[in-house]
Amino acid sequence: MVVVAIDGPSAAGKSTVAKGVAKRIGYVYVDTGAMYRCVTLFALENNVDCRKDEEVVKLLPNIQIELCVDGRVLLNGKDVTLDIRKQEVVANVSFVAANKGVRLFLVDLQRKMADDKSIVMDGRDIGTYVFPNADVKIFQVADVKERAKRRYKENLLKGIECTLEFVEQDLQRRDYIDSHREFAPLTKADDAIEVDTSFMTIEESIEEIIRIIKNKLGDNKDE
Ligand code: CDP
Repeated sequence: MVVVAIDGPSAAGKSTVAKGVAKRIGYVYVDTGAMYRCVTLFALENNVDCRKDEEVVKLLPNIQIELCVDGRVLLNGKDVTLDIRKQEVVANVSFVAANKGVRLFLVDLQRKMADDKSIVMDGRDIGTYVFPNADVKIFQVADVKERAKRRYKENLLKGIECTLEFVEQDLQRRDYIDSHREFAPLTKADDAIEVDTSFMTIEESIEEIIRIIKNKLGDNKDE
């Protein structure tokens, strides 16, 4: 089975592009960020402090996450697609993602997802830790001002209240925590190809990544 890993900082457009790429080449898209967001939401709903690693780990046996093909995210059977984008989740997710117990639990699920199907998986540690032997590794970046603008627009469309300044600060805060955590930090794999989407449209980014995939796999993965 083929694994395409797309890593990079927050709001670099990974999920939109990864989804588009997966659709075009007929692979399954896996949003690992949604999984960390689900654990965070569950901890908040259970009044557990997201910085208390052991308490969060105790919740894991009660968490069941489903990523549906239509893009919906189910947490213990409940549709939480919009809830996991809430500011309270955003404010806490990087603490939960720095928790080694949580990562081991989710990484195990992520690895199993590629057992029987080809996937495009996006996250922070896919090419470095989850699938160090991934067939194709992309590191998708974009200028922080551009990323903030994109996320701000997305939030407005989803009815999430925020300011552009807040979004930019939050992206930088999360990137810092994600890059400096001890276990499986956000970093570019040595063999990843960097794609800077600051000046690319979504369609151009999708095409560029498909071109890289075709080049790597040496066959016709376009339609
Ligand atoms: O959409 P955005 O880029 O803002 O975030 P996301 O991909 O949904 O990921 C949310 C958070 O989960 C990130 O800020 C990381 O703290 C964490 N994460 C991670 O640590 N490892 C992954 N493979 C995916 C996400």
